[in-house]
Amino acid sequence: MNYSELYSQSIENKELFWKNQAQEIYWKTFPNTILSEVSPLIYHWFADGFTNMSYLCLDAHIEAGRGQEIALIYESPVTQQTQIYSYQEVLVEVNKLAHALKRFGLTQGDTCVLYMPMIPQAVFSMLACARLGVTHSVVFGGFAPRELAIRIDDAKPKLLITADYGMEFDKIIDYTALFRAAKALANHQVDKTLIYFRDPSQKELITDEYDYEATCQDTSFCDVVWVKSTHPLYILYTSGTTGKPKGIVRDTGGYATALKFSMEYIYGVKQGQTFWAASDVGWVVGHSYIVYGPMIHGCPTILFEGKPIRTPDAGIFWRIIEKHKVSTMFTAPTAIRAIRKEDEQGTLLKEYDISSLNYLFLAGERCDPATFLWAKEVLQKPVIDHWWQTESGWPMLGLLTKNDLNPNAKVGSSNLPIPGYSIQILDESSQELPEDEEGFVALKLPAPPGFVTTLWNNQEGFIQSYLSHFRGYYLSGDGGYRDQDGYFFIMGRIDDVINVSGHRLSTGEMEEIIASHQYIAECAVVGVNDKLRGQKPIGFIVLKDHIKKNQDEIATELTQLIRDKIGAIAFYKQSIFVKRLPKTRSGKILRKNLRMLYDQIDFETPSTIDDPKIISEIALAIENSGRID
Ligand code: COA
Ligand code: AMP
Repeated sequence: MNYSELYSQSIENKELFWKNQAQEIYWKTFPNTILSEVSPLIYHWFADGFTNMSYLCLDAHIEAGRGQEIALIYESPVTQQTQIYSYQEVLVEVNKLAHALKRFGLTQGDTCVLYMPMIPQAVFSMLACARLGVTHSVVFGGFAPRELAIRIDDAKPKLLITADYGMEFDKIIDYTALFRAAKALANHQVDKTLIYFRDPSQKELITDEYDYEATCQDTSFCDVVWVKSTHPLYILYTSGTTGKPKGIVRDTGGYATALKFSMEYIYGVKQGQTFWAASDVGWVVGHSYIVYGPMIHGCPTILFEGKPIRTPDAGIFWRIIEKHKVSTMFTAPTAIRAIRKEDEQGTLLKEYDISSLNYLFLAGERCDPATFLWAKEVLQKPVIDHWWQTESGWPMLGLLTKNDLNPNAKVGSSNLPIPGYSIQILDESSQELPEDEEGFVALKLPAPPGFVTTLWNNQEGFIQSYLSHFRGYYLSGDGGYRDQDGYFFIMGRIDDVINVSGHRLSTGEMEEIIASHQYIAECAVVGVNDKLRGQKPIGFIVLKDHIKKNQDEIATELTQLIRDKIGAIAFYKQSIFVKRLPKTRSGKILRKNLRMLYDQIDFETPSTIDDPKIISEIALAIENSGRID
């Protein structure tokens, strides 16, 4: 079957298509119902099927006689450690933790928040929760206490699993201080906190804190809890347009089916071949392609605690590919830009044998053509840009590499719709736009398995945010167009979300935080182009009248405020002070024009602007402030 036939089948005969794919994974009870519309616009896959994600990732391989094969490779250039775990060894660790969770009183339906650095215990914790039907919510370790507190308040976990510290290059991140601060900020009281001490000599526990090693001692087998396909495996919070992140709910059976399909068809890996997603378990890429996807498919997966550069150098990616014979790799364009900046000629690459590598996949942010072409040139391997979101859980646009179903990547494009996804470009009135015209990227419902099923405890918010704009469609939040060959080009967000180093952040949230500063009358934060990080936030600030304080000092305070409230990853470094913001006559801030002014992109002054003179005022303020690199 070629790509077009496979794709058509997935859209026209979706139930049969996904029923066949579901047969590729183990079900305790195979579903009779494949697709159901449980309420208007809300669809469930495999509603009456029962399975368990931990079983699929571990027991299924062990029962098939592959228990001694490699499941997990922990590569940590920052601590100079490599640890390799077989399926059997991971299962022992997961059992130990699952017993501990049970003793703490956690059962199916409870939630558990994980705030972990990139260490194997993060993976064990996810799998132990999955084993018992406990819904986990991993919070990215780069987030500040306030962000963790917001997630604790929404997910209401009984247990927090964390560690004593993380490492960023050679900098120690004191998790203990961070999670304790978050617990103090949260309204919800977490019953217990389980801490993995990377440095046992510094062990120190206060009330309701438990030592991971001492608590996880029971190595006996722990039965899995068979859960309904629709059971929430995890909640993963992602930035929306406001300060309140969205709790994306992922089901179990649909997700497992979709991941299994993607490993084979999109990423082109076979059981036993090493897969490496250089991301973090705190992001969706980490959930789907560090942990669950490769493990379901029986591929050794790499957990990388390091950076593409300076840990120790820009050759680390290639060294790891050689060392573990990586077949398919996945990273963000920012990582490639960082390597290119340090090793434009690919000199370090020449030191390694990367012949095992079949494909490099890129996602997480728009990939600029120069980066794409550089990677293709130096690697001499197929480079594939593919598009997806936390909400989708797996790729929506890309290429199918299995049997070279559609091998031709187009520069600047995220390529073609993945089976199951009917992607359309719509205008304001839900009409499909002709080829090459930019509009809203939308997905015709029902979405395929694995797609977000709702927002945690907020079905109304789910419908409101995603399903109410265009009847019968999911609104992705991205703008883009389709060319004459059917290839899609994703051009960027149409809302207040930006991608900084592939990290999805809300400028709306930054505005809320800046506006809370005592001297600020009004502000607008926009995402501008950044050579390394793709985008970075810049604040346009209007001070209250009669503020005498030095503007540089206020700017420093605002930078610190964003670091304290969101985290250093927000990379908020520049505040530009202006007398007023450009607005329409109805009072809407013209953020797009602020961004274009900063990026020096020509535009026509909008006819709706309140006062056209303000454009030159802002341009002057930018010139005076300077554009920082
Ligand atoms: N925990 C704590 N702090 C973190 C962090 C984490 N997990 N990740 C980043 N930070 C901090 C950094 O230490 C830095 O702090 P500083 O301002 O005190 O120096 C700040 O956040 C900004 O980090 P970043 O933008 O990542 O810059 P960097 O110079 O540390 O690293 C790159 C630059 C390009 C090497 C890095 O951004 C990178 O590896 N990017 C690829 C990202 C990626 O793979 N994303 C995939 C998501 S799917
Ligand atoms: P996240 O939910 O963190 O994975 O971020 C999803 C967002 O990242 C998307 O809505 C896009 O804006 C952006 N994104 C992800 N992959 C791509 C891509 N390949 N090309 C362009 N933008 C992308």
